[in-house]
Amino acid sequence: MSKDVIIACDFSSKKALMNFIEKFEKERPFLKIGMELYYSEGPQIVRELKDRGHKIFLDLKLHDIPNTVKKSLSVLSNLDVDLCNIHASGTTPMMKAALEGFTKESGQRGLLIAVTQLTSTSEETMKEDLLIEKSLDETVMHYASKTKEAGLDGVVCSPLEARKVKEVCGENFLTITPGIRFAGGDKGDQVRVTTPKKAKELGSDYIVVGRSITGAENPLEAYRKCVNEFLGGM
Ligand code: C5P
Repeated sequence: MSKDVIIACDFSSKKALMNFIEKFEKERPFLKIGMELYYSEGPQIVRELKDRGHKIFLDLKLHDIPNTVKKSLSVLSNLDVDLCNIHASGTTPMMKAALEGFTKESGQRGLLIAVTQLTSTSEETMKEDLLIEKSLDETVMHYASKTKEAGLDGVVCSPLEARKVKEVCGENFLTITPGIRFAGGDKGDQVRVTTPKKAKELGSDYIVVGRSITGAENPLEAYRKCVNEFLGGM
């Protein structure tokens, strides 16, 4: 298992993305492409980035009936993305169908992970809107164990949950963790944040870093600092 820093490319156009990518010299960072960029630029943006040598996390968070998700992931598997995700709340049949769809005839596939509860969902909204009476923590751990049972590779979670997820689902179950800030950095809209160094100590496998790199005065330097803190001494 190779740990890595994934840059969240939350740009709304190819122009802005390319302007950012060109700041890198010999590095080819692992990039997260989300709905905004994918819906504006289509699959071609993924092909271009793959051709340039970047690994891609396609963050589309699929959630629909099992058959639709299976067929959609089968289409996405042709892009050879390295990491893709779905919602665990789509339930076990959907997650199993997703895995089938994402696996090519050759048996090859990228990593498939699930979103448990979005970090924008509070325990209060979970109770009021979703009628889930369990605690947020219990719900996240339950979704993680269902994700593992369905055969997926890991979950998106807070670095603060990474250790517990591994206790519940095993050391090899991947934790992909956003909410990363440098010490003393601006938190923005994130509530619970962790430094790359702390995320390493807590056992995150991949950290997803957006504005701390994309909004830095010198993104290349910020990326190198992040890699150093997270992967240094491994
Ligand atoms: O700019 P920042 O580092 O906060 O970006 C974090 C990235 O991780 C964003 O693309 C955001 O959508 C994503 N993310 C998150 N929390 C989750 C799931 C995804 O911040 N629970």
